[in-house]
Amino acid sequence: MLETFVFLILTLATAIAEIWQKFNKSFNYYNYQLSYWSRRGIPGPKGELFWGNLKAVTGREYVNVFQIRDWSKKFPRYFGIKKGCRNTLVISDADLAHEVLVRKFEYFHAHEPQPLEDDSDNNKNVLIFTSHGLRWKRLRTTSNPIFSVTNLKKIMPTMYDSIEHLMEHFKTVENKPINIHPIFQEVTMDIISRIALGQNGSNLFKNLYIDYAKGIFMSPIDDLQHTAPQMFPFIKKPIRMFSELYKTGIRASSNSLTTNLFKEVMKRKNERETMKENKTEKKLVDFIDLFLDAEVPEQKHSDTMGVLDKRNLKVSKELSVNEIVGQCLIFLLAGYDTTANSLSFVCYELIKNPETLQKLVEEIDDHLFESDSEDLSYEKINQMKYLDSVIKESLRLHPIAGNAVNRHCMETTEIGEKEKIQIEKGTNITIDVLTINYSEKLWGPEPEKFNPDR
Ligand code: HEM
Ligand SMILES: *[C@@H]1O[C@H](CO)[C@@H](O)[C@H](O)[C@H]1NC(C)=O
Ligand SMILES: *[C@@H]1O[C@H](CO)[C@@H](O)[C@H](O)[C@H]1NC(C)=O
Ligand SMILES: *[C@@H]1O[C@H](CO)[C@@H](O)[C@H](O)[C@H]1NC(C)=O
Ligand SMILES: *[C@@H]1O[C@H](CO)[C@@H](O)[C@H](O)[C@H]1NC(C)=O
Ligand SMILES: *[C@@H]1O[C@H](CO)[C@@H](O)[C@H](O)[C@H]1NC(C)=O
Repeated sequence: MLETFVFLILTLATAIAEIWQKFNKSFNYYNYQLSYWSRRGIPGPKGELFWGNLKAVTGREYVNVFQIRDWSKKFPRYFGIKKGCRNTLVISDADLAHEVLVRKFEYFHAHEPQPLEDDSDNNKNVLIFTSHGLRWKRLRTTSNPIFSVTNLKKIMPTMYDSIEHLMEHFKTVENKPINIHPIFQEVTMDIISRIALGQNGSNLFKNLYIDYAKGIFMSPIDDLQHTAPQMFPFIKKPIRMFSELYKTGIRASSNSLTTNLFKEVMKRKNERETMKENKTEKKLVDFIDLFLDAEVPEQKHSDTMGVLDKRNLKVSKELSVNEIVGQCLIFLLAGYDTTANSLSFVCYELIKNPETLQKLVEEIDDHLFESDSEDLSYEKINQMKYLDSVIKESLRLHPIAGNAVNRHCMETTEIGEKEKIQIEKGTNITIDVLTINYSEKLWGPEPEKFNPDR
């Protein structure tokens, strides 16, 4: 009896000791992890155990780009942060940024992966944003023609028609203060749906995609399902296994959107086939058509592995159906909110700066007066230098999607002319666009002031 008791106690004690040791070991491991940047002599804000600096960059009240900018004031040019156990180097120096984004692109040919992202090499639904290496190159090569001058000119009548509908709407709200931002969201989504997604005619204020897209942009990133995998990466796999939602790395509401787009692409494929049979020509060409021109069966691609050899940059101009759906999804998401936000900020700056507004109206009138029609041609718009400066200056002060300017290091390398900063393979890089865009060295005196004549 006593023996059994002693045995039990001993077993229990050993178990507890073992658990404690394990606990201590992982505790030490996490503490060691936390000191990643200080061990390499790179400064940065102090982090907490497990969290690192994650709480500060996922907050709802204070958007992460502002937090990053605040840190850049304290740690100029570059510094390291921890998002959970993820190592991120933040760069606010224009030369270092140029090195990462351009000069040493072969070491940084990927964006920072989403925390829950699947292995992008083996994901057939990969998006342009989450691809790397030759696949990224191929996805970009196949979407480049969309932005050719010829194509941009083709879509202008559609744009003008949607704007016509907007003007009709403005007539109903004359002399009342309005919030222009949701209205711009409607217009940009209307135009994108028409030129990219097969919508026939304007659908202003009735577009279903808006709610889908808002669901994606407005979803919080500070909940456990976002933060936990960044702190404890080993739970990624089970979460992905149990949740269909994370298949593409973009969550929840994009699923119904993807389903919808898939239907749209398949419908178009069939239409094109009957048209081929009947030998009829289609007049209006949209993004789906342009992407379908490049379609091939899924298994043909062997370029998914993450190698990018500068000498061998030739890629085939082919896409699979899944990639086409992915491209349409990204174009819809990347094109609608950014444009609506940019337009809203331009309006905001124009209202605050009446002299600029006056000068801009004069420039537009001059060009309208010269042309026969009410609509401005592509060439005429291109000639409006002041308009260009106004938009650029507004984007400088209010950089949209600033936190999308990030990269993932694919191969250990060094950057920096004199100081040589070593960057280990796998490190994530964030470019602090806000700080670069407020640099007095680059932009002259009073960089915080709106001044299109810079
Ligand atoms: C004023 C409006 C816009 C702003 C401010 C903006 C901003 C950005 C930024 C900052 C990035 C990340 C670039 C980087 O990683 O270095 C990006 C990427 C991208 N944008 Fe835009 N964007 C705008 C409009 C559009 C439109 C209209 C479309 C499509 C029709 C679009 C499609 C994309 C795509 C596909 C990418 C990913 C490129 C890649 O990973 O290769 N954007 N955008
Ligand atoms: C945890 O382990 C470290 C060394 O691995 C040791 O120095 C430390 O005393 C241990 N702490 C506790 C509370 O056991
Ligand atoms: C960079 O981010 C990805 C995606 O969250 C993560 O898997 C990776 O571990 C990060 N890199 C480092 C060095 O922490
Ligand atoms: C688009 O809508 C117009 C008018 O509503 C209709 O005449 C035309 O046939 C439609 N086109 C297609 C391709 O559905
Ligand atoms: C193509 O021809 C078939 C019959 O040959 C016809 O049923 C169909 O409506 C035609 N499709 C188009 C798009 O003209
Ligand atoms: C920030 O400044 C750069 C020029 O250095 C400009 O290209 C860019 O549009 C500005 N804003 C953003 C978000 O990129």
